[in-house]
Amino acid sequence: MARRPMVAGNWKMYKTAGEAVVLVQDVAELVDDVWDKVEVVVCPPFTDLKSASTVIELDKLTMGLGAQDVFYEEEGAFTGAIAPRMLADLRVDYVIVGHSERREYFGDTDETVNLKVKAVLKHRMTPIVCCGESLAVRDAGETEGFVRGQIAAGLAGLDADAAAKLVVAYEPIWAIGTGRTPTPEGANDVCRTIRATVGAMYGPPAAMSVRVLYGGSVKPENAGMFFGEPDIDGALVGGASLDASSFSDIVHAARP
Ligand code: 13P
Repeated sequence: MARRPMVAGNWKMYKTAGEAVVLVQDVAELVDDVWDKVEVVVCPPFTDLKSASTVIELDKLTMGLGAQDVFYEEEGAFTGAIAPRMLADLRVDYVIVGHSERREYFGDTDETVNLKVKAVLKHRMTPIVCCGESLAVRDAGETEGFVRGQIAAGLAGLDADAAAKLVVAYEPIWAIGTGRTPTPEGANDVCRTIRATVGAMYGPPAAMSVRVLYGGSVKPENAGMFFGEPDIDGALVGGASLDASSFSDIVHAARP
């Protein structure tokens, strides 16, 4: 597969700045043999980005750094918010946008996701755009249509070159933190639909190069099954990314 596999750890609201340094260094040591084959990204909380960025730079680690969210305005009176420019200044490479936890607890919608995607791209970082259905949507048999709608709205109005560089994470809400997962074939079907939607919007080259990750209860024991699927280019890992050895095992499973 021409696309470079990617394994990103979404640390969610875990780890202090000091703990982040230790985890970054532990992960770096364990994945040292696969740098050239698998792109490894860590997404700590905002308050850890400075320390993580510093250790990545000083230790010359080939590790990508991601943030978990961003606000879409350039700057202004938006108490508590973080602007794209602030992330870019810390050498952040990726920004997770539209995670289901942001949609559920913090009011993100397809419209604000779209504004955030554009703001991230404007500052030359790469969005990791999340989508995925609830159990109710799945039980109603509407998964593919729902996800297609999230992608069409969230990725509207980009230029084709930008779309080609995007990362999309398919994370069924019912699989997050539950230990339940779709079958690898079922996850691949939705990832293929995501790719086809990007293709319909931005053309076949964008569809071929966009990376689509699977997320939701990815563990060392099941990662290889997902990575064996043709339209799954890696994983967005929650709980298992907080343990260096589990995360490293998942990274190794992504080696082509
Ligand atoms: P878990 O791996 O803990 O299920 O979380 C997945 C997720 O939400 C990653 O963004």
